[in-house]
Amino acid sequence: MPVLFYREHLYPHLVDVLGDPPPIRQVRQQIIPLAEGKVLEIGVGSGANFCHYDPTRVSKLYALEPNPGMLRLAERQRHRTKLNLEFLDLPGERIPLKDHSVNTVVSTFTLCTIPGIVEAIRGVRRVLKPDGKLIFFELGLSPDPAIQRWQKRLEPIHHWLFQGLYLTRDIPSLIEQGGFQIEQMEMGYLAQFPKSSSYCWWGTAICNHDTGSPP
Ligand SMILES: C[S@@+](CC[C@H](N)C(=O)[O-])C[C@H]1O[C@@H](n2cnc3c(N)ncnc32)[C@H](O)[C@@H]1O
Repeated sequence: MPVLFYREHLYPHLVDVLGDPPPIRQVRQQIIPLAEGKVLEIGVGSGANFCHYDPTRVSKLYALEPNPGMLRLAERQRHRTKLNLEFLDLPGERIPLKDHSVNTVVSTFTLCTIPGIVEAIRGVRRVLKPDGKLIFFELGLSPDPAIQRWQKRLEPIHHWLFQGLYLTRDIPSLIEQGGFQIEQMEMGYLAQFPKSSSYCWWGTAICNHDTGSPP
């Protein structure tokens, strides 16, 4: 079936080829080594972050990825690291880990792609220990109204081409609404892509205990 062929064969290679130009790799190099302890990475894709983890700080990496085509590429990256890595699927859209079981969750260009973002962020909060950290690097809504107009126009094409990618999500606000407090964050247009598809935020967030436990 052509749609399945695109999703499992062409899309993984597209993400692999376009998803790691030097400015993006620099940010990965900056934030991924902050991960420590038991780590869950959601939507690992082709495994572009694996080489940036510090194996002396990461005791275990749970690599969640629902697309079998991505997994095939990520499997290759796995052999280039010394990480204690276990791939996870996403049965019933629920992260298959116990409550409060990981120290760090990493999401790079996944919260901007995932269909049910509110539920996904709640799931992240559920599996994080109370003093755990979310490391994020995401694409989304530009602060510039002229660019926003282009983002709204171009979103349907990106949504199809990049299998669910949204250009107009305000990811930091959604992270905060999901019960996190942003600890540190940088932002800006990255890479050589048009401004409509290159506004990014990267940083860390911690659980906001004032908002209570997620339902
Ligand atoms: C744009 S790619 C990013 C890949 C990788 N994180 C990176 O930085 O290059 C988005 C990834 O999210 C995955 N994904 C889609 N829905 C998901 C879900 N509900 N939970 C976890 N990952 C998901 C896709 O299969 C894809 O590998």
